Amino acid sequence: MEGKAHGAHVLALPYPTQGHINPMLQFSKRLASKGVKVTLATTVFIFNSMQPRSSPSESVQFDAISDGHDEGGFAQAESIHSYLARLEAIGSKTLGDIVIKHKDTAHPIDCIVYDHCLPWALDVAKKFGLLGAAFFTQPCAVNFIYYHVHHGLLKLPISSTPISIPGLPLLELQDMPSFIYVAGSYPAYFEMVLSQFSNSDKADWALVNTFYELEVEAVDSMSKISPLLTIGPTVPSIYLDNRVENDNDYGLNLFTIDDSSVCTDWLSTKPAGSVVYVSFGSLAHLSNKQMEELAFGLKGSNFYFLWVVKASEEENLPEKFVEEIGDKGLVVKWSTQSEVLSNKAIGCFFSHCGWNSTLEALSLEVPMVVMPQWTDQPTNAKFVEDVWKVGVRVKVDENGIVGREEIESCIREVMEGERGKEMKENAKKWRHLATEAVSEGGTSDKNIDEFVSKLIKASP
Ligand code: UDX
Repeated sequence: MEGKAHGAHVLALPYPTQGHINPMLQFSKRLASKGVKVTLATTVFIFNSMQPRSSPSESVQFDAISDGHDEGGFAQAESIHSYLARLEAIGSKTLGDIVIKHKDTAHPIDCIVYDHCLPWALDVAKKFGLLGAAFFTQPCAVNFIYYHVHHGLLKLPISSTPISIPGLPLLELQDMPSFIYVAGSYPAYFEMVLSQFSNSDKADWALVNTFYELEVEAVDSMSKISPLLTIGPTVPSIYLDNRVENDNDYGLNLFTIDDSSVCTDWLSTKPAGSVVYVSFGSLAHLSNKQMEELAFGLKGSNFYFLWVVKASEEENLPEKFVEEIGDKGLVVKWSTQSEVLSNKAIGCFFSHCGWNSTLEALSLEVPMVVMPQWTDQPTNAKFVEDVWKVGVRVKVDENGIVGREEIESCIREVMEGERGKEMKENAKKWRHLATEAVSEGGTSDKNIDEFVSKLIKASP
């Protein structure tokens, strides 16, 4: 991108959880590398609890809006519904305050890039005469399913399968986002993801954290109904071959990280491709029984494993498990995941199939065993197994549990089976295409340039 010194200023607003902040912050760094100034606003509570609090570069600064729960965040709310209502009411006002704060400076805000789950931020942008871009943190396919439901093109409850949506493979019920697959679950969140289309016709862009080559048909189909630009994968560039300045990791953690050398030191003693990395992202919470089956499945597989067990789940580990596994396994509370996945010792990623984790695995060439938990994860898992062919999906028993034998056998299939070899070859291809997309002249890079040049034109 030519002419780096320009005055364009973006106000970026992620939904306040780790899985939404990571991609928005990565995208902000990309914009900064093209000369755009970015103010990234989290909530006051997150701002005060995140580490580090210092911004990654002069061009990306942090600020905060209020969700009405400045002391305790979401945990303080009475219900999901009441949290989202306060976030919208108080967040809209305090987001506007940030716009006003920059109004008569050398760099007034030109555009609000807001998480797709916060469509009210577009109303704030339009109230102040600014550009507005929705930022989708989930794949095109999932967004397109929600679009069909929102517009009444897919009627619920689903009465017959397979489900046919333009640009997507035929889907069974278990491949649908959990809010559809498990009818009636998390109604407030379901309403939130559908509401992203309530005012989308007023948005100037729909920026999607995916890359064209990964979702050609879904992107082509969804482009017919929205001004869509693919801008991903938003994986820290240090692990790809297209380094962006000041981009050494996601760089903003809401969890206390075990000293990152604990993982790398341990991995450095293990042969290439010998370790199963296990993580379920920032939100999923496994039941006691499921934790037990997973623990014994990992142990029984007899491969080395590195398992992220969040502090909130530690008590669900079987008694004496950590002592008994010895050097066969390492259990940590939180890792620098992209650094771990890029380590040569990792042979497989046992994952909940969150979209960031999926993009990281694809971009860093790691085949997967997928055990989706909720939201977009079942649909992501369908694509991982049947479309991109880089993983195997576990089977759930009649009690809703994935048993230890199933866990062992899926790990074996990926680590040493014939299908595993194919998955590794496919994963190599996706890494190459992901790197190309974000490298100079690649599909995502060109889209980001297009976005920036329109910003510059609009900037006073
Ligand atoms: C959820 C949804 O699953 C996801 O699809 C959506 O887009 C955002 O909300 P989450 O469940 O947290 O996200 O999973 P994921 O999307 O995988 O994001 C987790 C992030 O935390 C990843 O970027 C991962 O690298 C990071 N992480 C996870 C760590 O840095 N360390 C860990 O130990 C675990």
